[in-house]
This record gives sequence, C-alpha cells and structure tokens, in this order.
Amino acid sequence: MLNEMMHRPIVNEDVLHFMRTQQALPGKLGELEAQAQRDGVPVIPHETVSFLRFLLGQLQPKAILELGTAIGFSASLMATIAGVNSHVTTIDRFPVMIEQAKKNFAKLELESQITLLEGDAADVLPTLRGPYDFIFMDSAKAKYITFLPECLRLLKKGGVLAVDDIFQAGTVFQPIEAIPRKNRSIHRHLNEFLQVITTHPDLTTSLVPLGDGLALITKNAETIVINN
Ligand SMILES: C[S@@+](CC[C@H](N)C(=O)[O-])C[C@H]1O[C@@H](n2cnc3c(N)ncnc32)[C@H](O)[C@@H]1O
Repeated sequence: MLNEMMHRPIVNEDVLHFMRTQQALPGKLGELEAQAQRDGVPVIPHETVSFLRFLLGQLQPKAILELGTAIGFSASLMATIAGVNSHVTTIDRFPVMIEQAKKNFAKLELESQITLLEGDAADVLPTLRGPYDFIFMDSAKAKYITFLPECLRLLKKGGVLAVDDIFQAGTVFQPIEAIPRKNRSIHRHLNEFLQVITTHPDLTTSLVPLGDGLALITKNAETIVINN
C-alpha cells in the first residue's frame, strides 16, 4: 500500500522539508493526516494538502468528485475547505479502506457532506451524471488514461480536474528499457496520459511539482473528444 514515490522527491530536499513541516492542519483533520503518515497509508502529501487548501478556498466548488478514497483523508479535507454547502462524492473499491473511510467520515461529522460509492471506478463513473466543479483523480495510475474521458464528461466546462502522482519520481521521462518490467504498464499509460493532457487543443493543463506531481486540467469546450 505504501507509495514509495512520496519518498523520492522531485524537488530539492530542503524545500520539501519546509513544505512538509509548515502550515499544519488543525484539529481532527490534522490527527487523521498524522495517523495516515504513521500507518503508511498513501494519502496526499502535506505540500499537496496546503495547495488544495488554497485552490479550493479560491474555487469554492459545490460538487466535488474523487477517484480513490483510501481512508477518506483528502475527501474530508476537500469537504471541510469547500464548506457545508458543498458535496463530495468519492469512489473506492478496496473494502478495508472503505470501512476505515466510513469511520473517519463519522468521526469528523462529515457523513451528510460526503457520499462514498463502493466499487471499481470503471463501473461507477458511467453511472454518474455530474456536472462536477472539481474532480480529484487519485486512484491506480495506470488507469488515468482510461478514466480521463469519463472525468472530462463529468467535469463542467471551466471546472478543474486535478490528477495526483503523475511523474513516478521523474522516471516517467526515462526510456522504457530503463524501467523495471513490473512498472512498464504504468510507465506507458502515464506517458500516454501526459501526452493527451499537454497537447489536446480543448484542454489547458499545468503540471505542478508537488508530491509526485500534480496535473491541473481545465476543459475549454463542453465535449472533449480524445483520440489515442
Ligand atoms: C492513493 S490512495 C487515495 C488516497 C486519498 N485520495 C487521500 O489522499 O486521502 C488510492 C486509492 O484508490 C483506490 N483505487 C485504485 N484504483 C481504483 C479503481 N479502479 N476504482 C476504485 N478505487 C480505486 C485504492 O483502493 C486506494 O484506496
């Protein structure tokens, strides 16, 4: 379960140390973040937490969708920042995580603000209507390219799709022969994903070197057609 890429920084170690030790989260959310770090649950790193606090504070999204709940840390963070008039729908397929997420939503008194959909995102996404103002994709990386069309269908025009862990500690830019065989599928699919989001004429994308890389994508047309 451990995300080894979180410990292979893509920025200077001193910069990373500063970003990971400042701007602590208050209260029960802070406790949940600390617990996740102690238990090695691969939740978003602290620099991404601070970034989402800023970004969602500005965007004030009402409808939020997340792919990859884990123990419910980022869903709880987003629901808290976006406030009581927002709603987070989050998807996970792993029963152990789902059980813990439900407990955490109850502990944080966020049950009415968060809907947890249990199942594979491949099955759940086509059942959703949207539109969503903000989508956070943080599930299996090899599937980002597969889930992209559904995420873009569900995103409102001008909304933001944020995608976590896109750089594989920078190894995504190495030739495939240099990549261990077990990681080649992720490598290939992440390259396809990066190619589409950085070249599509109806998407505007920024790649932000936070954690293992965060892509921010907005769509500039109602319907996005992806040919790959
Ligand atoms: C990195 S963790 C999510 C961390 C969480 N967003 C946070 O920061 O608190 C990834 C989660 O995605 C889930 N996941 C991976 N692929 C999935 C899929 N195809 N459908 C549903 N859930 C998936 C895993 O079970 C895991 O709990």
